[in-house]
Amino acid sequence: MNKNTFTLIDNRDQTEYEYPILGASRGPQAVDMSKFYQESGLFSYDPGFTSTANCSSEITFINGEKGELRYRGHPIEELATKHNYLDVCYLLLHNKLPSKEEKVAFDLELRHRAFLPEGLRNLYDSFPDNAHPMSILSAATTALSTFYYEHLSLETQEDYYVMAHRIIAKIPTIAAFAYRKSIGASYIYPDIDKSFTENFLYMLRAYPGGKLKLTPNGHQEIKDIEIKALDTIFTLHADHEQNASTTVVRSVGSTGAHPYVAISSGISALWGRAHGGANESVIEQLRLIGSVENVEKYIAKAKDPNDPFRLMGFGHRVYKNFDPRAKILKQMQVELSKELNLDSELMQIAQKIESIALSDEYFIERKLYPNIDFYSGVILTSLKIPREMFTPIFVIGRTVGWITQWIESKQNPKAKIVRPRQLYTGE
Ligand code: CMC
Repeated sequence: MNKNTFTLIDNRDQTEYEYPILGASRGPQAVDMSKFYQESGLFSYDPGFTSTANCSSEITFINGEKGELRYRGHPIEELATKHNYLDVCYLLLHNKLPSKEEKVAFDLELRHRAFLPEGLRNLYDSFPDNAHPMSILSAATTALSTFYYEHLSLETQEDYYVMAHRIIAKIPTIAAFAYRKSIGASYIYPDIDKSFTENFLYMLRAYPGGKLKLTPNGHQEIKDIEIKALDTIFTLHADHEQNASTTVVRSVGSTGAHPYVAISSGISALWGRAHGGANESVIEQLRLIGSVENVEKYIAKAKDPNDPFRLMGFGHRVYKNFDPRAKILKQMQVELSKELNLDSELMQIAQKIESIALSDEYFIERKLYPNIDFYSGVILTSLKIPREMFTPIFVIGRTVGWITQWIESKQNPKAKIVRPRQLYTGE
């Protein structure tokens, strides 16, 4: 018997099928089932892809049992504490951390590319003032493809990088414009003197003409600790292997569509409450719960199988121990509470939910732990980020992951169009 194969027996007629086991550098190996239908006439059935590897990838590794996350082999804890978001973007795209010179050149390039084609502003004018920024973000990202049609046929590695740098640099501006539109305020253009993360806060906060509010002691109103906190949030969201939105980006990319249209599809997929939309829902839910006294009532609702209510910011498809990103944010929450005014009522409700859920049989049995969104919502609130911008912030962080995964799939000569089958049960 070949030890590197997997045998399936069809008990109806004892036919044996043998499939190769593919090696993994970390984590579970995979059975190559690509010939299964051809040989057996059967489909494999795995709704939600809980046991299916849709591709092989060298970018991000998660061990859900150990609570481990690595980008290009580097542990997330090291990246979040010793590096900044631009280092992480460079690492994901180039498979190495930048040297000092590479870092400076990369930073400058992104600053220069942060401006939007002027024509795109007309599109913003067509949206109603109260449009959700996520809708605008998705539409404007699709529209961006019309300005860079040449990215449909990329040839050299340099072509790929230019396409990737453009979208990473412009997404914060698209998002900030979407927010300004949603509050009926004039657009603030990027400030080339500001770093990636500071510039985003500036485009959200500045007054028309670009002045920031002054504090009583004369300092401009973007604190270093705010930049650091948001930069870490971007880092923690930068990639997460084959999650729902990344799978959408790869699927759309597999048909040969424009990369920015694939990213726009990823933005749409991320918006849902089961995925990136959870960070907005966490705060909505904490406000709905309203006071510490009501927490027990809502925990009971979350446990009731006949009640659709779920605790937002709890549970994860892959992490069944703890979400390492949540651990980092929990620590950051403590640091921020010393320096910024965290909403104490929200914090108290969140802490009570966390402590009950971590000791309750229902949550322990199902391995439901607080995820990244449970903490990011409270932190973003303390940074005075409006709630409807929470998911766009997830988008800004994740764009580098989406585009890196898109490039990996495009540059794989064996990649196929993503086209699953079904178990037909109709007439
Ligand atoms: N509150 C209460 N019960 C829950 C929750 C929750 N948040 N999440 C899962 N369960 C229960 C669920 O009812 C089921 O119970 P039972 O076995 O009795 O039917 C069991 O746990 C397994 O749930 P599932 O829906 O099969 O698990 P999944 O892996 O398909 O779903 C999830 C993962 C994240 C969609 C889900 O946990 C959830 O809806 N969480 C709330 C939304 C949320 O916080 N999403 C952000 C995810 S992290 C950011 C990101 O990467 O996108």
